[in-house]
Amino acid sequence: MDSAAGTGRRRQDEVYRAGVYGHRPRVPTAARALQRRARERLGGRAYSYVAGGAGDETTQRANRTAFDRYAVVPRVLRDVSARDTSVELFGRRLPAPLLLGPVGALELVHPAADLAVARAAASLGVPMVFSNQASVSMEECAAVMGSSPRWFQLYWSTSDELVESLVGRAEVSGCDALVVTLDTTMLGWRPRDLDLGHLPFALGKGIAQYTSDPVFRRLVEERAGAAPAPAQVGAAASRDRQPRPTLPAVRALVGMARAWPGPLLDNLRSPLPRAAVETFLSIYSRPSITWADLAWLRARTRLPIVLKGVLHPDDARRALDEGVDGVVVSTHGGRQVDRSIAALDALPDVVAAVGGRAPVLLDSGVRSGADVLTAVALGARAVLLGRPFAWGLALAGEEGVRQVVSDVLGEFDLTLGLSGHTAVDQLSPDVLRRVG
Ligand SMILES: Cc1cc2nc3c(=O)[nH]c(=O)nc-3n(C[C@H](O)[C@H](O)[C@H](O)COP(=O)(O)O)c2cc1C
Repeated sequence: MDSAAGTGRRRQDEVYRAGVYGHRPRVPTAARALQRRARERLGGRAYSYVAGGAGDETTQRANRTAFDRYAVVPRVLRDVSARDTSVELFGRRLPAPLLLGPVGALELVHPAADLAVARAAASLGVPMVFSNQASVSMEECAAVMGSSPRWFQLYWSTSDELVESLVGRAEVSGCDALVVTLDTTMLGWRPRDLDLGHLPFALGKGIAQYTSDPVFRRLVEERAGAAPAPAQVGAAASRDRQPRPTLPAVRALVGMARAWPGPLLDNLRSPLPRAAVETFLSIYSRPSITWADLAWLRARTRLPIVLKGVLHPDDARRALDEGVDGVVVSTHGGRQVDRSIAALDALPDVVAAVGGRAPVLLDSGVRSGADVLTAVALGARAVLLGRPFAWGLALAGEEGVRQVVSDVLGEFDLTLGLSGHTAVDQLSPDVLRRVG
């Protein structure tokens, strides 16, 4: 495919030509420097939310160490002048084995949040997975993406009616697949956020898919209707049990009011924004889900269903037996279970268990084009990029995301060619050696 054949060279040309005029890339091209710069830019709570992981963050480190244990063994003299980085996934040809993974609460890092990511993804033809915890509704994001591919990631709510509504909206929004995240039936133990007492959703951040949903809004209205009016609460509670209105509490209320549709002033006087946060916190996930629930979902959508957070080969096998269309091997970026097996270490066994019956995707620890190549060589059909594009967003909005993704695509193309390959399907474990 000509358009993809020169991704790496084109990106280099762009950078070096601009360099002649004294311009440097707006965001660092290497992952470590990218994160460092984002840290300098962001406030402590936003940075910690994105960077943090579960417990001692052992899983996060393991995700990276796992990549370091593989080395590419380049081959030479093979005419790599024309390269095709494209792959096929659920009937679509993608420019490269890369998607933008679902990352919630992006308004913490940039006001344009998901909308900037959607625009950047669409400009490159790279699929974006809309997060269930997005800061902008899927309809608004889809509206700026034209026919560019998008998927929807679902957290299985305690309200079946809400799940049905979200799935229906994903279909209408032109999503190509449904990613059901299974590793977050409860939020992991995240010390960085705990020590700051910071949960974005409790402040009304990252709940746009809910506040834009008719079923959710009805549930909120029911809840607000059932709650005693504020005057009664005041009368009933004793004076010393009333929490003092601190500045953070006022800010939180304004944040909640902003999250609810309608004029801010009206919302500040309304019980609905607060009821929305409370409703969200009580229904966002259902830890009781089991394999038996999948049939219910299967019967309600024609979209391919992809399970995210599969790490055990037996679970992968079972998923396919239950009629699932794909799996994402993922540790949720080490945010859920500390001391978990690294995603890349889990990949070969899952690939073997699936045996080519469905695409296996991977995320957690992907930082560069060389990482993409490594995961694909180990059997991933494609990978999901996570934190790096959030850092790009933090530093330069839409342009920052576009640059980060272009850099990964460019490096993947060059690494493919420089290791002696001209197409993605030439990659196999033989391309790698285990080292260290
Ligand atoms: C700030 C943040 C928010 C996330 N939000 C979601 C989410 O809403 N849904 C989901 O399925 N995964 C979510 N994830 C997990 C990512 O989809 C992905 O699994 C993870 O970022 C991969 O790890 P990496 O970024 O270290 O490569 C989130 C990750 C981060 C860093």
